[in-house]
Amino acid sequence: MKEDKELQQLIDKLHRERNLSHAEWTTLIAGRTPELAEYLFSLAREERHQYYGHGVYVRGLIEFTNYCRNDCLYCGIRKSNLNANRYRLTEEEILSCCQSGYSLGFRTFVLQGGEDGFYTDDKMVHLIRKIKTLYPDCAITLSIGEKSRESYQRFFDAGADRYLLRHETYNEEHYSRLHPACLNAKARQQCLWDLKEIGYQVGTGFMVGSPYQTPEHLAEDMLFIHDLNPHMVGIGPFIPHHDTTFANEPAGTLELTLFMLGLIRLMIPKVLLPATTALGTIHPRGREMGIQAGANVVMPNLSPTSVRKDYLLYDNKICTGDEAAECRHCMERRMESIGYHVVTSRGDSLNN
Ligand code: 5AD
Ligand code: FES
Repeated sequence: MKEDKELQQLIDKLHRERNLSHAEWTTLIAGRTPELAEYLFSLAREERHQYYGHGVYVRGLIEFTNYCRNDCLYCGIRKSNLNANRYRLTEEEILSCCQSGYSLGFRTFVLQGGEDGFYTDDKMVHLIRKIKTLYPDCAITLSIGEKSRESYQRFFDAGADRYLLRHETYNEEHYSRLHPACLNAKARQQCLWDLKEIGYQVGTGFMVGSPYQTPEHLAEDMLFIHDLNPHMVGIGPFIPHHDTTFANEPAGTLELTLFMLGLIRLMIPKVLLPATTALGTIHPRGREMGIQAGANVVMPNLSPTSVRKDYLLYDNKICTGDEAAECRHCMERRMESIGYHVVTSRGDSLNN
């Protein structure tokens, strides 16, 4: 009982001061209870309603290539997965996704892909310019991994507005247990600082419940995110993929993911916070619960149905058989079922 009171005071302190110490984050995350979570979510919703009302921003996700030169141990499209059915969309196919997305009301296109050498900087610049010319009222978000600062600058100059690059985990040792030796936490974090300096609206994030993750690691993630002060934070549960090193590891939980969403909303009240597809995958109403924990963004898929089942980062991914229009309308209904509504605007971050 006494302990619960102490933890509630930590939530109140977070609410007041917008940050905690490493020890306090750890205590709060490790000691969370369902009652505390309800208290946290009610404060998180209050913040969310103050800045974003009951609107939910939508982003049209275009998974344009699943070729990847990286070999992250958790990811279903890692290069050593020889069972992955590789594809890349042509420029025409990508533009056709944008067109159907635009008529469904999407005003943000997220171009996400593996680190695919076929899509050179020149090809990306050409594609970005083209989309910007055809849809000047839309925001372009890139999610194509680690690049040089020069490349990021070129994409930005071509018209890209936002960049998503999850830091995955701040702790260097933990990072090295999830990635091959050629990747390191510091280099990834440097990309985020570069992106921010260039002028992108930047999104970072991490997986919840990834193998070997501890509350101390999550505390470090919170401190890093506080420091970076990004416009967006994407988090979702780790979910094993059967063709990876972590095939037999347990998935992250709905409960901890929701708790982390609530904490992030309290730490950065104006942040854009998606209720991710991974959250929708571990529970049929996961995305709705994410919204009720403080999230304010959803990212339905615009990729052609023919390739959906090939962009599998983890097992049992939802929406792999649904047309863009179905997902769009499904999302509308889901949000309305909990008293929220989809907003069709660019939905820029208020956290500037
Ligand atoms: N489970 C959950 N999320 C995953 N990602 C990659 N593999 C998995 C997995 N098995 C996440 C990573 C990456 C984002 C695109 O998807 O955090 O940054
Ligand atoms: Fe894709 Fe519901 S969001 S079918």
